[in-house]
Amino acid sequence: MSVTAVIGSQWGDEGKGKAVDYLAGQMDYVARFNGGNNAGHTVINEFGTFKIHLVPSGIFAQNTVGLIGGGVVIDPQVLIDEIEMLNKAGVNIDGRFWVSRRAHLIMPYHKILDGLYEEAKGAGATGTTRRGIGPVYADKVSYNGIRWTDFASDIFESRLQMQLTLKNKIIVALGGEALKYEEVRAAYRGYYEKLKPYIRELFDVVQNGLKENKNFLLEQAMGTFLDTDWGTYPFVTASTTIPSAASAGLGIPPRHITRVIGVTKAYTTRVGSGPLPTEIKDYESEAYKKFGEVAATTGRIRRVGWLDLEIVRTAVQLSGVTEICLTKLDILSGLDEIQVCAGYAINGKSIRYADVDAYGLSEVELVYKTVKGWSEDISKARSFDELPANAQNYVKMIEEAAEVPVKWIGVGPERDATIRR
Ligand code: GDP
Ligand code: IMO
Ligand code: MG
Repeated sequence: MSVTAVIGSQWGDEGKGKAVDYLAGQMDYVARFNGGNNAGHTVINEFGTFKIHLVPSGIFAQNTVGLIGGGVVIDPQVLIDEIEMLNKAGVNIDGRFWVSRRAHLIMPYHKILDGLYEEAKGAGATGTTRRGIGPVYADKVSYNGIRWTDFASDIFESRLQMQLTLKNKIIVALGGEALKYEEVRAAYRGYYEKLKPYIRELFDVVQNGLKENKNFLLEQAMGTFLDTDWGTYPFVTASTTIPSAASAGLGIPPRHITRVIGVTKAYTTRVGSGPLPTEIKDYESEAYKKFGEVAATTGRIRRVGWLDLEIVRTAVQLSGVTEICLTKLDILSGLDEIQVCAGYAINGKSIRYADVDAYGLSEVELVYKTVKGWSEDISKARSFDELPANAQNYVKMIEEAAEVPVKWIGVGPERDATIRR
């Protein structure tokens, strides 16, 4: 049996979806344990191209069971749309996809409040995905949440009534429009009826799987530096993203998680506000043009930067990464020289990421090194030997800095555009 976690070692969008889809064939269970539909995981395989927000990206492997743990927050309409999208693509999930009844529901007021808070913060806004993530987790830990299990009786109605009394006051005070109880109630009862076949207690599923020595793949959403505690607070997301979150978020005892794959982009991207120390602001530069991406969830343009080895090194330590899956190496092709941040300093004295907060991080001196690039298109390479020497050196440099092996290298967005070492 093995329990493997796939985590992003930067600020999200490292290519976790592709990695999970690639590995899922060997797995009995693929599970989400944190975050919600703020995640956008891209999968390109024989079924088509997908931007997945809630269903685990490993669902395309027909013998794999997909789980959404109680640590995930769910916008039911998004989940319904996603199930429909998979059905249309010919991916049958019936009898092999389960959602924990403990998962909290994203309600309309969470999305409204997310937007109102962002607007009230003005220039200091977080740049959230406005999917209601901060407000729904705030309700969860302040005992104001609504879960799938509440639909089993009229608890749902009474909790909704109470919440609307509270939330409408805040919404109206902030200039928004009050929600109508009956409209929200009817919509959510409708969602429940549609999703009911998938909702269950996952305790027995997970515990029996562990007992039967099954293989689990845990799919993190967001990345290490969006973690509420260890990320660049307050420019973070509202869930714990490091692998320990899978323990509470799915019900897996920590001792079972023996492999942690750190998905690492060959450069760095970030969506939303907050420090990105190696950010490239020369919008005419070749690197900026090459690294540009559109966010899978919101369609925003991602900020881009050079690879930051201090960030990767810290993620490896924090999340207990045992091996790295390096993504988007193909994008670096054609650069004569590549900048890499080897570490941080203050007044010439070397420091670590953990020594400064988010505001201090914007001020640190970056110790850059310049490495030689390569001109060849590497997207057809399927073995390490086929890579140009400088691309091989780039991979080895990451291994040396992170002190863990790079076991997979992405050379394109499609599932098979992957080098296994
Ligand atoms: P996730 O949120 O971590 O799953 O990552 P996203 O899907 O949001 O963003 C990663 C982007 O990089 C997507 O557009 C992927 O299709 C793409 N991608 C992933 N791996 C590779 C790779 O090795 N090469 C290239 N060119 N694109 C990749
Ligand atoms: P995946 O799983 C990148 C960012 C938002 C914002 C901050 C808080 O696709 O890697 P939130 O809506 O969570 O309250 O926003 O977190 N963020 C992500 N950035 N990838 C993600 O997910 C993200 N999920 C949230 O842009 O800065
Ligand atoms: Mg993403």
